[in-house]
Amino acid sequence: MRVPVIAGNWKMYKTAGEAAAFAKAFLPLVAGVREVEIVLAPPFPSIAAVADLVRRSGVFVASQNVHFADEGAYTGEVSPRMVKDAGASHCIIGHSERRQYFAETDDSANRKVRAALAAGLTPIFCLGETLAERKAGKTFDVVERQIRGGLKDIPGPDGPKVVVAYEPVWAIGTGVTATPEQAQEVHAFLRGLLKERFGSAAAAVRILYGGSVKPDNIATLMAKEDIDGALVGGASLAADSFARIVKFK
Ligand code: 13P
Repeated sequence: MRVPVIAGNWKMYKTAGEAAAFAKAFLPLVAGVREVEIVLAPPFPSIAAVADLVRRSGVFVASQNVHFADEGAYTGEVSPRMVKDAGASHCIIGHSERRQYFAETDDSANRKVRAALAAGLTPIFCLGETLAERKAGKTFDVVERQIRGGLKDIPGPDGPKVVVAYEPVWAIGTGVTATPEQAQEVHAFLRGLLKERFGSAAAAVRILYGGSVKPDNIATLMAKEDIDGALVGGASLAADSFARIVKFK
């Protein structure tokens, strides 16, 4: 059985104080939740504060990016080891906003996924097609290229440690959610590619959906066979709405 992952990507929102206030409000709301891997991804400066507050609660913390080197002359970057030391256990890699605005490629995302695994972090590797690509009938070609590139040279035993997030770019921040059928179709396709790559271990890989996930659409998405969780942007910024998503059952 795949334990569902519900991850909140706060993007560039919340100071450390605001992040701490969220954690204090959120923890009591999800105190009774079992068998959901809850992840909060604050901006770098709030990771330590959030990690301190959620310790022993069963809630995990992620960074929204990492560099692929352990350390070095890379001004403005943060390494997997630093993120882990600050209290994170997961890291988001290859988000479409990083691809769009910060020159992330399949290749750089792949180096980051490998570095994260080497540091003992759980990568949440993101992929997804743009609206133009979907309209041109290229969705499957695009996500195939992204997953092959992003997971290149990952040794077989590490396969199940990677979390994949399918985030169609046209659904991010638009209020237009992929239908459960559209998402399932891509997730099943990705699962097939993971089977080619990792064999039977592909059954253990969590594939999350992201793109305008809200409290009122999470349950129908989660009902699909290959949808194993959600990567939530806007609706993860308020404790009550994110808690409602976590408690989708
Ligand atoms: P929204 O939930 O705001 O559409 O954002 C999705 C996302 O990009 C999560 O990483």
